[in-house]
Amino acid sequence: MRHWWKDAVIYQIYPRSFADGNGDGMGDIAGIKSRIGYLAGLGIDAIWLSPFYTSPQNDGGYDVADFRDVDPRFGNLTDFDGLVKAAHEAGLKVIVDIVPNHSSSEHAWFKAALAAGPGSPERDLYVFRDGVKPTSDSPELPPNDWRSVFGGPAWTQVPDGQWYLHLFDSSQPDFNWENPKVADEFDGILAFWLDRGVDGFRVDVAHGLIKEPGLPSVGDGMDVEMLGTTRSPYFDVDGVHDVYRRWRRILDSYPGDRMAVAEAWVESPERRANYVRPDELHQAFNFDLLTADFSAETFRAVIDAELATVGSVDAPPTWVLSNHDRPRYVTRYGDGAVGLAKARAAALAMLALPGSVYLYQGEELGLPEVLDLPDHLRQDPTWHRSGFTEKGRDGCRVPLPWQRSGPSFGFGAVEGWLPQPTDWGDRSVAAQDQVAGSTLELYRSALRLRRRGVPTGLTWLSTDNPDVLAFDNGRFRCVVNFGSTPTPVDGEALVSSADMANGTLPGHSAAWFPV
Ligand code: BGC
Repeated sequence: MRHWWKDAVIYQIYPRSFADGNGDGMGDIAGIKSRIGYLAGLGIDAIWLSPFYTSPQNDGGYDVADFRDVDPRFGNLTDFDGLVKAAHEAGLKVIVDIVPNHSSSEHAWFKAALAAGPGSPERDLYVFRDGVKPTSDSPELPPNDWRSVFGGPAWTQVPDGQWYLHLFDSSQPDFNWENPKVADEFDGILAFWLDRGVDGFRVDVAHGLIKEPGLPSVGDGMDVEMLGTTRSPYFDVDGVHDVYRRWRRILDSYPGDRMAVAEAWVESPERRANYVRPDELHQAFNFDLLTADFSAETFRAVIDAELATVGSVDAPPTWVLSNHDRPRYVTRYGDGAVGLAKARAAALAMLALPGSVYLYQGEELGLPEVLDLPDHLRQDPTWHRSGFTEKGRDGCRVPLPWQRSGPSFGFGAVEGWLPQPTDWGDRSVAAQDQVAGSTLELYRSALRLRRRGVPTGLTWLSTDNPDVLAFDNGRFRCVVNFGSTPTPVDGEALVSSADMANGTLPGHSAAWFPV
Protein backbone atom coordinates (compact mmCIF):
# COMPACT_ATOMS: atom_id res chain seq x y z
CA MET A 1 0.00 0.00 0.00
CA ARG A 2 1.25 3.45 -0.85
CA HIS A 3 0.84 5.62 2.24
CA TRP A 4 -0.15 9.16 1.29
CA TRP A 5 1.63 10.73 4.26
CA LYS A 6 5.03 9.23 3.48
CA ASP A 7 5.85 11.92 0.94
CA ALA A 8 3.04 14.44 1.44
CA VAL A 9 3.33 18.21 1.48
CA ILE A 10 1.19 19.33 4.40
CA TYR A 11 0.18 22.98 4.77
CA GLN A 12 -0.39 24.33 8.26
CA ILE A 13 -3.36 26.63 8.70
CA TYR A 14 -3.49 28.81 11.79
CA PRO A 15 -7.25 29.38 11.67
CA ARG A 16 -7.27 32.76 13.45
CA SER A 17 -5.07 34.24 10.75
CA PHE A 18 -5.84 32.48 7.49
CA ALA A 19 -9.09 33.98 6.17
CA ASP A 20 -12.01 35.68 7.90
CA GLY A 21 -15.33 34.55 6.46
CA ASN A 22 -17.71 36.32 8.83
CA GLY A 23 -16.09 39.73 9.10
CA ASP A 24 -15.27 39.74 12.83
CA GLY A 25 -11.53 40.26 12.33
CA MET A 26 -10.64 36.68 13.20
CA GLY A 27 -10.15 33.89 10.68
CA ASP A 28 -12.64 31.01 10.69
CA ILE A 29 -13.70 27.77 9.06
CA ALA A 30 -15.87 29.53 6.48
CA GLY A 31 -12.79 31.53 5.47
CA ILE A 32 -10.70 28.39 5.08
CA LYS A 33 -13.42 26.71 3.04
CA SER A 34 -13.60 29.70 0.72
CA ARG A 35 -9.88 29.25 -0.02
CA ILE A 36 -9.88 25.54 -0.77
CA GLY A 37 -9.39 26.33 -4.45
CA TYR A 38 -6.26 28.32 -3.60
CA LEU A 39 -4.90 25.48 -1.45
CA ALA A 40 -5.56 22.80 -4.03
CA GLY A 41 -4.03 25.03 -6.71
CA LEU A 42 -0.88 25.45 -4.67
CA GLY A 43 -0.17 21.75 -5.16
CA ILE A 44 -0.18 20.57 -1.55
CA ASP A 45 -1.53 17.18 -0.43
CA ALA A 46 -3.04 17.98 2.95
CA ILE A 47 -3.95 20.74 5.35
CA TRP A 48 -3.25 20.69 9.08
CA LEU A 49 -5.57 22.86 11.12
CA SER A 50 -4.21 24.35 14.34
CA PRO A 51 -6.87 24.23 17.09
CA PHE A 52 -10.35 25.55 16.30
CA TYR A 53 -11.98 23.99 19.38
CA THR A 54 -14.00 25.82 22.03
CA SER A 55 -11.44 27.89 23.88
CA PRO A 56 -10.99 31.17 25.74
CA GLN A 57 -8.05 31.72 23.33
CA ASN A 58 -5.50 32.46 26.02
CA ASP A 59 -2.94 30.54 23.98
CA GLY A 60 -4.37 30.92 20.49
CA GLY A 61 -6.68 27.93 20.95
CA TYR A 62 -4.07 25.57 22.46
CA ASP A 63 -6.13 26.06 25.62
CA VAL A 64 -9.08 23.81 24.85
CA ALA A 65 -12.31 24.01 26.87
CA ASP A 66 -14.21 21.42 24.83
CA PHE A 67 -12.29 18.94 22.70
CA ARG A 68 -15.42 17.89 20.83
CA ASP A 69 -16.74 21.20 19.57
CA VAL A 70 -15.83 24.16 17.38
CA ASP A 71 -15.37 27.56 19.00
CA PRO A 72 -18.22 29.86 17.89
CA ARG A 73 -15.58 32.34 16.71
CA PHE A 74 -14.58 29.79 14.07
CA GLY A 75 -18.00 28.30 13.23
CA ASN A 76 -19.67 25.07 14.31
CA LEU A 77 -19.46 21.35 13.69
CA THR A 78 -21.57 21.60 10.55
CA ASP A 79 -19.09 24.11 9.15
CA PHE A 80 -16.27 21.74 10.07
CA ASP A 81 -17.95 18.83 8.31
CA GLY A 82 -18.47 21.05 5.26
CA LEU A 83 -14.78 21.95 5.26
CA VAL A 84 -13.67 18.32 5.43
CA LYS A 85 -16.02 17.45 2.59
CA ALA A 86 -14.82 20.34 0.43
CA ALA A 87 -11.18 19.52 1.14
CA HIS A 88 -11.67 15.86 0.29
CA GLU A 89 -13.51 16.75 -2.91
CA ALA A 90 -10.55 18.90 -3.86
CA GLY A 91 -8.20 15.98 -3.21
CA LEU A 92 -6.80 17.33 0.05
CA LYS A 93 -6.44 15.35 3.27
CA VAL A 94 -7.26 17.04 6.59
CA ILE A 95 -5.20 16.75 9.77
CA VAL A 96 -6.36 18.33 13.03
CA ASP A 97 -4.37 19.34 16.09
CA ILE A 98 -4.95 17.35 19.25
CA VAL A 99 -3.84 18.84 22.57
CA PRO A 100 -3.52 16.02 25.10
CA ASN A 101 -1.07 17.50 27.61
CA HIS A 102 -3.47 20.04 29.08
CA SER A 103 -6.89 21.57 28.83
CA SER A 104 -8.11 25.08 29.38
CA SER A 105 -8.97 26.04 32.94
CA GLU A 106 -12.44 26.61 31.48
CA HIS A 107 -12.79 22.88 30.72
CA ALA A 108 -15.70 21.28 32.63
CA TRP A 109 -13.30 18.79 34.23
CA PHE A 110 -11.07 21.50 35.65
CA LYS A 111 -13.99 23.49 36.98
CA ALA A 112 -15.28 20.32 38.65
CA ALA A 113 -11.80 19.65 40.05
CA LEU A 114 -11.68 23.08 41.65
CA ALA A 115 -15.15 22.68 43.10
CA ALA A 116 -14.59 19.15 44.40
CA GLY A 117 -11.57 19.93 46.58
CA PRO A 118 -8.38 18.14 47.63
CA GLY A 119 -8.25 14.37 47.41
CA SER A 120 -11.31 14.10 45.15
CA PRO A 121 -11.44 11.92 42.03
CA GLU A 122 -12.09 15.12 40.05
CA ARG A 123 -8.77 16.62 41.19
CA ASP A 124 -6.96 13.44 40.22
CA LEU A 125 -7.65 14.15 36.54
CA TYR A 126 -5.12 17.00 36.80
CA VAL A 127 -1.86 17.33 38.72
CA PHE A 128 -2.78 18.86 42.07
CA ARG A 129 -0.32 18.75 44.96
CA ASP A 130 0.19 20.38 48.33
CA GLY A 131 2.86 23.03 48.57
CA VAL A 132 6.01 22.69 50.65
CA LYS A 133 7.20 24.65 53.65
CA PRO A 134 10.98 24.36 54.05
CA THR A 135 10.65 25.51 57.69
CA SER A 136 7.57 26.04 59.78
CA ASP A 137 7.82 29.82 59.62
CA SER A 138 8.80 30.17 55.93
CA PRO A 139 6.20 30.98 53.28
CA GLU A 140 4.69 28.06 51.40
CA LEU A 141 6.45 27.17 48.15
CA PRO A 142 5.12 25.34 45.09
CA PRO A 143 5.49 21.51 45.15
CA ASN A 144 8.70 21.65 43.08
CA ASP A 145 10.86 24.08 41.11
CA TRP A 146 9.46 23.48 37.61
CA ARG A 147 9.03 26.57 35.47
CA SER A 148 6.40 27.28 32.82
CA VAL A 149 7.53 27.26 29.18
CA PHE A 150 6.00 30.72 28.93
CA GLY A 151 7.86 32.05 31.97
CA GLY A 152 7.19 32.06 35.73
CA PRO A 153 6.48 29.06 37.94
CA ALA A 154 4.71 25.99 36.51
CA TRP A 155 2.40 25.91 39.55
CA THR A 156 -0.53 28.05 40.58
CA GLN A 157 -2.16 27.93 43.99
CA VAL A 158 -5.93 27.66 44.32
CA PRO A 159 -7.97 29.19 47.16
CA ASP A 160 -8.03 25.99 49.29
CA GLY A 161 -4.22 26.00 49.32
CA GLN A 162 -3.38 23.23 46.80
CA TRP A 163 -1.32 23.90 43.70
CA TYR A 164 -1.87 22.65 40.16
CA LEU A 165 0.71 22.04 37.48
CA HIS A 166 0.73 23.93 34.18
CA LEU A 167 3.78 23.54 31.98
CA PHE A 168 2.31 26.36 29.87
CA ASP A 169 0.03 29.22 30.90
CA SER A 170 -1.78 29.12 34.25
CA SER A 171 -4.97 28.76 32.20
CA GLN A 172 -3.63 25.46 30.77
CA PRO A 173 -3.65 22.88 33.61
CA ASP A 174 -1.76 19.65 32.79
CA PHE A 175 -3.80 16.44 32.74
CA ASN A 176 -2.80 13.55 34.96
CA TRP A 177 -2.15 10.81 32.42
CA GLU A 178 -1.60 8.30 35.25
CA ASN A 179 -5.39 8.37 35.70
CA PRO A 180 -6.97 5.89 33.25
CA LYS A 181 -9.97 8.18 32.77
CA VAL A 182 -7.74 10.66 30.95
CA ALA A 183 -6.55 8.05 28.47
CA ASP A 184 -10.11 6.81 27.97
CA GLU A 185 -11.31 10.35 27.34
CA PHE A 186 -8.68 10.88 24.65
CA ASP A 187 -9.57 7.58 23.00
CA GLY A 188 -13.06 9.02 22.67
CA ILE A 189 -11.80 12.37 21.37
CA LEU A 190 -9.71 10.69 18.69
CA ALA A 191 -12.69 8.56 17.67
CA PHE A 192 -14.93 11.63 17.59
CA TRP A 193 -12.78 13.35 14.94
CA LEU A 194 -11.89 10.16 13.07
CA ASP A 195 -15.61 9.46 12.75
CA ARG A 196 -16.00 12.92 11.22
CA GLY A 197 -13.53 11.94 8.54
CA VAL A 198 -10.21 13.52 9.54
CA ASP A 199 -7.15 11.87 8.03
CA GLY A 200 -4.89 12.39 10.97
CA PHE A 201 -3.67 14.34 13.97
CA ARG A 202 -0.84 16.63 14.86
CA VAL A 203 -0.08 15.78 18.47
CA ASP A 204 0.69 18.88 20.52
CA VAL A 205 3.50 18.59 23.10
CA ALA A 206 3.61 14.86 22.42
CA HIS A 207 6.64 14.51 24.67
CA GLY A 208 4.99 16.06 27.72
CA LEU A 209 2.12 13.85 28.83
CA ILE A 210 3.88 11.63 31.36
CA LYS A 211 5.82 13.11 34.25
CA GLU A 212 8.44 11.30 36.31
CA PRO A 213 7.01 9.70 39.45
CA GLY A 214 7.36 11.94 42.47
CA LEU A 215 7.70 15.02 40.26
CA PRO A 216 11.34 15.61 41.24
CA SER A 217 12.73 19.13 41.19
CA VAL A 218 15.19 19.83 38.42
CA GLY A 219 17.64 21.89 40.42
CA ASP A 220 19.10 25.29 39.83
CA GLY A 221 19.14 26.97 36.51
CA MET A 222 17.04 24.59 34.45
CA ASP A 223 14.08 26.11 32.70
CA VAL A 224 11.27 24.23 31.05
CA GLU A 225 12.14 24.55 27.40
CA MET A 226 9.50 23.70 24.86
CA LEU A 227 11.70 24.49 21.92
CA GLY A 228 14.71 23.05 23.62
CA THR A 229 16.27 19.68 23.76
CA THR A 230 17.05 19.01 27.39
CA ARG A 231 15.54 15.88 28.87
CA SER A 232 13.71 16.46 32.09
CA PRO A 233 11.25 14.93 34.54
CA TYR A 234 8.40 16.48 32.54
CA PHE A 235 9.48 15.94 28.93
CA ASP A 236 10.27 12.76 27.01
CA VAL A 237 9.63 10.41 29.93
CA ASP A 238 9.54 6.85 28.58
CA GLY A 239 6.00 6.06 29.75
CA VAL A 240 4.66 8.43 27.10
CA HIS A 241 5.19 5.75 24.48
CA ASP A 242 2.43 3.57 25.95
CA VAL A 243 0.00 6.34 25.01
CA TYR A 244 1.10 6.31 21.39
CA ARG A 245 0.99 2.52 21.11
CA ARG A 246 -2.61 2.77 22.24
CA TRP A 247 -3.35 5.56 19.76
CA ARG A 248 -1.78 3.63 16.93
CA ARG A 249 -4.20 0.78 17.55
CA ILE A 250 -7.10 3.24 17.35
CA LEU A 251 -5.82 4.82 14.14
CA ASP A 252 -5.23 1.42 12.57
CA SER A 253 -8.76 0.32 13.45
CA TYR A 254 -10.19 2.93 11.08
CA PRO A 255 -10.61 2.48 7.36
CA GLY A 256 -8.47 4.65 5.12
CA ASP A 257 -4.91 5.62 5.84
CA ARG A 258 -5.09 7.69 9.04
CA MET A 259 -1.92 9.05 10.58
CA ALA A 260 -0.48 11.09 13.43
CA VAL A 261 2.56 13.35 13.65
CA ALA A 262 4.24 14.15 16.95
CA GLU A 263 5.44 17.52 18.08
CA ALA A 264 8.23 16.15 20.24
CA TRP A 265 11.08 18.43 21.19
CA VAL A 266 13.59 15.94 22.44
CA GLU A 267 17.28 15.69 23.15
CA SER A 268 18.44 13.87 20.01
CA PRO A 269 17.27 12.42 16.72
CA GLU A 270 17.56 8.98 18.36
CA ARG A 271 15.10 9.95 21.09
CA ARG A 272 12.78 11.36 18.42
CA ALA A 273 12.89 8.07 16.53
CA ASN A 274 11.25 6.39 19.54
CA TYR A 275 8.01 8.22 18.72
CA VAL A 276 7.89 6.73 15.24
CA ARG A 277 8.62 3.10 15.97
CA PRO A 278 6.39 0.85 13.87
CA ASP A 279 3.72 0.51 16.57
CA GLU A 280 3.68 4.21 17.57
CA LEU A 281 3.04 7.41 15.61
CA HIS A 282 3.64 7.71 11.90
CA GLN A 283 5.84 10.78 11.96
CA ALA A 284 7.56 13.22 14.28
CA PHE A 285 8.46 16.74 13.25
CA ASN A 286 12.13 17.17 12.65
CA PHE A 287 12.64 20.75 13.78
CA ASP A 288 16.32 20.92 12.95
CA LEU A 289 15.85 22.98 9.77
CA LEU A 290 13.49 25.26 11.65
CA THR A 291 16.35 26.27 13.89
CA ALA A 292 19.25 25.85 11.44
CA ASP A 293 21.38 28.64 10.00
CA PHE A 294 21.44 29.07 6.26
CA SER A 295 24.69 27.22 5.74
CA ALA A 296 25.75 24.30 3.56
CA GLU A 297 27.43 22.55 6.45
CA THR A 298 24.41 22.82 8.75
CA PHE A 299 21.86 21.81 6.14
CA ARG A 300 23.90 18.79 5.16
CA ALA A 301 24.36 17.72 8.78
CA VAL A 302 20.63 18.09 9.51
CA ILE A 303 19.64 16.18 6.39
CA ASP A 304 22.10 13.34 7.06
CA ALA A 305 21.02 13.05 10.69
CA GLU A 306 17.33 12.91 9.81
CA LEU A 307 17.77 10.32 7.07
CA ALA A 308 19.85 8.13 9.37
CA THR A 309 17.41 8.51 12.26
CA VAL A 310 14.18 7.66 10.54
CA GLY A 311 15.89 5.02 8.44
CA SER A 312 16.57 3.13 11.67
CA VAL A 313 12.82 2.78 12.38
CA ASP A 314 11.53 2.79 8.82
CA ALA A 315 9.60 6.04 9.21
CA PRO A 316 9.58 8.84 6.64
CA PRO A 317 11.79 11.90 7.18
CA THR A 318 10.01 15.20 7.85
CA TRP A 319 11.10 18.75 7.11
CA VAL A 320 9.91 22.05 8.56
CA LEU A 321 11.21 25.57 7.90
CA SER A 322 8.50 27.50 9.69
CA ASN A 323 5.48 27.19 11.97
CA HIS A 324 3.30 29.27 14.28
CA ASP A 325 5.81 29.09 17.14
CA ARG A 326 8.95 30.38 15.46
CA PRO A 327 9.98 33.61 13.73
CA ARG A 328 9.33 33.45 10.00
CA TYR A 329 12.42 32.26 8.17
CA VAL A 330 12.78 35.24 5.82
CA THR A 331 13.52 37.23 8.96
CA ARG A 332 15.50 34.48 10.64
CA TYR A 333 17.82 34.58 7.61
CA GLY A 334 18.39 38.32 7.89
CA ASP A 335 15.26 39.89 6.39
CA GLY A 336 15.12 42.17 3.35
CA ALA A 337 16.18 41.03 -0.10
CA VAL A 338 18.93 38.74 1.21
CA GLY A 339 16.62 37.09 3.77
CA LEU A 340 14.04 36.48 1.08
CA ALA A 341 16.60 35.09 -1.38
CA LYS A 342 17.90 32.66 1.24
CA ALA A 343 14.35 31.68 2.20
CA ARG A 344 13.47 30.90 -1.41
CA ALA A 345 16.62 28.83 -1.80
CA ALA A 346 15.94 26.96 1.44
CA ALA A 347 12.38 26.24 0.29
CA LEU A 348 13.62 24.71 -2.97
CA ALA A 349 16.14 22.65 -1.03
CA MET A 350 13.46 21.40 1.36
CA LEU A 351 10.96 20.59 -1.39
CA ALA A 352 13.59 18.47 -3.12
CA LEU A 353 14.05 16.20 -0.10
CA PRO A 354 12.48 12.77 0.22
CA GLY A 355 9.77 12.41 2.86
CA SER A 356 7.09 14.77 4.14
CA VAL A 357 7.28 18.53 4.08
CA TYR A 358 5.31 20.79 6.41
CA LEU A 359 4.65 24.33 5.16
CA TYR A 360 3.29 27.14 7.30
CA GLN A 361 0.70 29.50 5.84
CA GLY A 362 2.28 32.58 4.34
CA GLU A 363 5.70 31.09 3.69
CA GLU A 364 4.62 30.66 0.07
CA LEU A 365 4.24 34.45 -0.03
CA GLY A 366 7.67 35.07 1.46
CA LEU A 367 6.14 36.85 4.44
CA PRO A 368 8.60 38.17 7.00
CA GLU A 369 8.13 38.18 10.76
CA VAL A 370 6.25 41.28 11.92
CA LEU A 371 8.60 42.82 14.44
CA ASP A 372 6.84 46.07 15.27
CA LEU A 373 3.46 45.00 16.58
CA PRO A 374 2.18 47.44 19.18
CA ASP A 375 2.79 45.90 22.60
CA HIS A 376 -0.78 46.42 23.75
CA LEU A 377 -2.02 44.14 20.96
CA ARG A 378 0.27 41.22 21.75
CA GLN A 379 -1.68 38.10 22.70
CA ASP A 380 0.95 35.41 23.19
CA PRO A 381 1.00 34.51 26.92
CA THR A 382 4.79 34.55 26.74
CA TRP A 383 4.61 38.35 26.65
CA HIS A 384 2.96 38.81 30.03
CA ARG A 385 4.37 35.71 31.71
CA SER A 386 7.93 36.79 30.92
CA GLY A 387 7.25 40.09 32.65
CA PHE A 388 7.04 41.80 29.23
CA THR A 389 10.58 40.87 28.24
CA GLU A 390 9.89 38.21 25.60
CA LYS A 391 7.81 39.50 22.73
CA GLY A 392 6.47 36.05 21.93
CA ARG A 393 5.09 34.48 18.81
CA ASP A 394 2.50 36.97 17.54
CA GLY A 395 4.83 38.23 14.80
CA CYS A 396 4.40 35.04 12.76
CA ARG A 397 0.64 34.94 13.34
CA VAL A 398 -0.38 38.14 11.57
CA PRO A 399 -3.38 37.63 9.23
CA LEU A 400 -2.54 36.71 5.64
CA PRO A 401 -2.82 39.31 2.88
CA TRP A 402 -4.94 38.06 -0.03
CA GLN A 403 -5.58 41.29 -1.95
CA ARG A 404 -3.52 44.34 -2.79
CA SER A 405 -5.81 46.65 -0.83
CA GLY A 406 -8.80 46.72 1.49
CA PRO A 407 -9.20 46.88 5.26
CA SER A 408 -7.11 43.74 5.89
CA PHE A 409 -5.78 43.13 2.39
CA GLY A 410 -8.60 40.70 1.70
CA PHE A 411 -8.16 38.69 4.91
CA GLY A 412 -11.71 39.76 5.70
CA ALA A 413 -14.12 42.66 5.54
CA VAL A 414 -12.60 44.44 8.52
CA GLU A 415 -9.15 44.88 10.03
CA GLY A 416 -7.71 41.62 11.39
CA TRP A 417 -7.06 40.79 15.06
CA LEU A 418 -3.43 41.78 14.56
CA PRO A 419 -2.54 44.66 12.23
CA GLN A 420 -0.68 43.87 8.99
CA PRO A 421 2.27 45.99 7.88
CA THR A 422 1.15 48.64 5.37
CA ASP A 423 3.22 47.15 2.53
CA TRP A 424 1.64 43.70 2.77
CA GLY A 425 -0.63 44.44 -0.20
CA ASP A 426 2.52 44.03 -2.33
CA ARG A 427 3.13 40.61 -0.77
CA SER A 428 -0.49 39.48 -1.14
CA VAL A 429 -1.68 36.48 -3.10
CA ALA A 430 -3.23 38.82 -5.69
CA ALA A 431 0.06 40.71 -6.13
CA GLN A 432 2.00 37.47 -6.73
CA ASP A 433 -0.54 35.40 -8.61
CA GLN A 434 0.68 34.60 -12.15
CA VAL A 435 3.67 36.90 -11.66
CA ALA A 436 6.75 35.16 -13.01
CA GLY A 437 9.46 34.97 -10.39
CA SER A 438 7.16 35.68 -7.43
CA THR A 439 7.60 33.53 -4.34
CA LEU A 440 4.07 32.19 -4.75
CA GLU A 441 4.82 31.06 -8.31
CA LEU A 442 8.12 29.56 -7.16
CA TYR A 443 6.27 27.39 -4.61
CA ARG A 444 3.63 26.48 -7.19
CA SER A 445 6.22 25.44 -9.79
CA ALA A 446 8.24 23.44 -7.28
CA LEU A 447 5.17 21.72 -5.86
CA ARG A 448 3.96 20.88 -9.36
CA LEU A 449 7.32 19.29 -10.24
CA ARG A 450 7.47 17.45 -6.93
CA ARG A 451 4.00 15.97 -7.48
CA ARG A 452 4.98 14.80 -10.91
CA GLY A 453 7.91 12.90 -9.50
CA VAL A 454 8.13 12.57 -5.74
CA PRO A 455 11.72 12.25 -4.49
CA THR A 456 12.66 8.65 -3.82
CA GLY A 457 15.96 9.02 -1.99
CA LEU A 458 19.02 11.18 -1.67
CA THR A 459 22.53 10.84 -3.06
CA TRP A 460 25.00 13.62 -2.42
CA LEU A 461 26.94 14.82 -5.44
CA SER A 462 30.39 16.26 -5.11
CA THR A 463 30.94 19.98 -5.61
CA ASP A 464 34.20 21.95 -5.56
CA ASN A 465 32.72 24.72 -3.48
CA PRO A 466 32.09 24.14 0.25
CA ASP A 467 29.20 26.62 0.10
CA VAL A 468 27.37 24.56 -2.51
CA LEU A 469 25.32 21.43 -1.85
CA ALA A 470 24.13 19.20 -4.67
CA PHE A 471 22.08 16.03 -4.52
CA ASP A 472 20.14 13.66 -6.72
CA ASN A 473 16.77 12.65 -5.26
CA GLY A 474 15.93 9.96 -7.78
CA ARG A 475 13.85 12.40 -9.82
CA PHE A 476 15.96 15.48 -10.30
CA ARG A 477 19.15 17.13 -9.16
CA CYS A 478 19.01 19.97 -6.65
CA VAL A 479 21.86 22.46 -6.32
CA VAL A 480 21.87 25.00 -3.49
CA ASN A 481 24.36 27.85 -3.34
CA PHE A 482 24.59 28.95 0.28
CA GLY A 483 27.41 31.36 -0.50
CA SER A 484 27.08 34.93 -1.72
CA THR A 485 28.90 34.58 -5.04
CA PRO A 486 27.66 32.86 -8.22
CA THR A 487 28.69 29.29 -8.93
CA PRO A 488 28.80 27.50 -12.29
CA VAL A 489 26.16 24.81 -12.93
CA ASP A 490 25.45 22.39 -15.78
CA GLY A 491 22.19 22.07 -17.58
CA GLU A 492 18.92 23.87 -18.08
CA ALA A 493 17.07 24.41 -14.79
CA LEU A 494 13.57 23.03 -14.25
CA VAL A 495 12.98 25.71 -11.64
CA SER A 496 15.25 28.16 -9.84
CA SER A 497 14.84 30.50 -6.92
CA ALA A 498 16.71 33.33 -8.71
CA ASP A 499 17.33 34.33 -12.31
CA MET A 500 20.17 32.34 -13.80
CA ALA A 501 22.48 33.64 -16.47
CA ASN A 502 25.41 32.14 -18.39
CA GLY A 503 25.35 28.77 -16.70
CA THR A 504 25.74 30.15 -13.18
CA LEU A 505 23.65 29.93 -10.07
CA PRO A 506 23.66 33.25 -8.18
CA GLY A 507 24.59 33.48 -4.48
CA HIS A 508 21.83 32.52 -2.02
CA SER A 509 19.84 30.58 -4.52
CA ALA A 510 18.89 27.06 -5.56
CA ALA A 511 17.76 25.28 -8.71
CA TRP A 512 16.55 21.87 -9.83
CA PHE A 513 17.90 20.15 -12.93
CA PRO A 514 16.86 17.04 -14.83
CA VAL A 515 18.95 13.93 -14.19
C1 BGC B 1 2.12 24.63 20.34
C2 BGC B 1 2.14 26.01 20.89
C3 BGC B 1 1.38 25.99 22.20
C4 BGC B 1 1.92 24.91 23.15
C5 BGC B 1 0.98 24.65 24.27
C6 BGC B 1 2.94 23.92 21.38
O1 BGC B 1 3.87 23.17 21.16
O2 BGC B 1 2.68 24.51 19.06
O3 BGC B 1 1.62 26.95 20.02
O4 BGC B 1 1.52 27.23 22.81
O5 BGC B 1 2.11 23.72 22.48
O6 BGC B 1 -0.14 23.94 23.83
